[in-house]
Amino acid sequence: MKTAIYPGTFDPITHGHLDVVRKALLFVDKLIVALPETPAKKQFFSLSKRMQFIRESTKGVEVVSFSGLLADFAKAKKCSLIVKGVRGSADLDYELQMAFQNARMNPGLQTIFIPPSEEYAHISSTLVKELASFGHKETLSSMVPRCVEKALWKS
Ligand code: PNS
Repeated sequence: MKTAIYPGTFDPITHGHLDVVRKALLFVDKLIVALPETPAKKQFFSLSKRMQFIRESTKGVEVVSFSGLLADFAKAKKCSLIVKGVRGSADLDYELQMAFQNARMNPGLQTIFIPPSEEYAHISSTLVKELASFGHKETLSSMVPRCVEKALWKS
């Protein structure tokens, strides 16, 4: 049984992330979406809200939080595969650095990079929050699942 971890802050989950989930499920049997309990940056939505949005918008994935290093969490889960979404070269530069460091801390831990479909490649959680803050609600439905859209309207 092939298991992979898809880590991220998902603040909030977007259609780009969901596309990566769908693509990952084409070649793994089990996908664990994992959110750090103490992310580097302050998040807009609480951890429990972000996890709830993912659970509401996905099927057949496990959604968990983890504390500490991703490399240690993967070891504890006996999982040697990390999935990351990459939209372009800027993402890849940053993601490669993390992949190399994770493999140094947990030898054998592989990271595979999945680009989203082109129609989602411009979407980022940061862009979504910015558009929402300017009240540009019309575009949000094409960027985030309905549960996130509704929560952004209320914010
Ligand atoms: O969605 P993001 O913000 O790009 O996700 C980043 C994340 C959560 C994958 C990364 O910050 C992470 O792995 N955090 C856990 C702590 C850790 O292992 N840091 C060292 C990475 S080399």
